[in-house]
Amino acid sequence: MADSAAPPRREALVELYEQASTCTLCPLSEGRTKVVFGAGNADAELMFVGEAPGAEEDRRGLPFVGRAGGLLNELLAGIGLERDDTFVANVLKCRPPGNRDPQPIEIETCRPYLERQIELIEPKVICTLGNFSTKLLTGSPTGITRVRGIAQQHLLGGRPVTLLPLFHPAAGLRTPAVKETLREDFKLIPALIEQPPHEKVEVEPEPAPAEERDSGRASAEPDQLGFFG
Ligand code: URA
Repeated sequence: MADSAAPPRREALVELYEQASTCTLCPLSEGRTKVVFGAGNADAELMFVGEAPGAEEDRRGLPFVGRAGGLLNELLAGIGLERDDTFVANVLKCRPPGNRDPQPIEIETCRPYLERQIELIEPKVICTLGNFSTKLLTGSPTGITRVRGIAQQHLLGGRPVTLLPLFHPAAGLRTPAVKETLREDFKLIPALIEQPPHEKVEVEPEPAPAEERDSGRASAEPDQLGFFG
């Protein structure tokens, strides 16, 4: 993306962050400690979308800072990347009580924040982590086990984006074979970033029917802003 677009993009992202920070659109706002807007490089070509903040994320206001975040960092290091090369967000910006699955109404209510983040960051590649983000952004009810590691082309935020569904890192923490699959699937990322955007893309996804969303969940300190790079 052109450098000249960077300052307005960052400003718009800060504005969106401020809006999300005081969001009371769904009842999750009542139980949260901090809104976890997302963090990283506003100019990133690579974006990760997880599910929802856990306890540590809720406490610190930052995404993927618990054990699953540790594995995410390790997987990135394995392909020569770091968190600062990416922008990391979640489907939900507030923690569901007891880390329960996101509810369809919460996903729908929070969805415009994620859509606007994608529109502003303009990533070339989005890796969805786990079932919820995969189903939301592919617009398909097909579960992660069937689609992981296979890149798809979509129109997201008005632009062609390569979408790579991946297992959730928390699942990798629980099951060594899943961690190994994650390592293998991460190796696909560098080439996907390098490849030019596809002309032929799927239409912008509609939400998958609520009853078909299956569970795959393994689940900012003020300085969240500093994480926009
Ligand atoms: N799991 C997620 O899906 N997101 C986080 O930010 C942390 C754990």
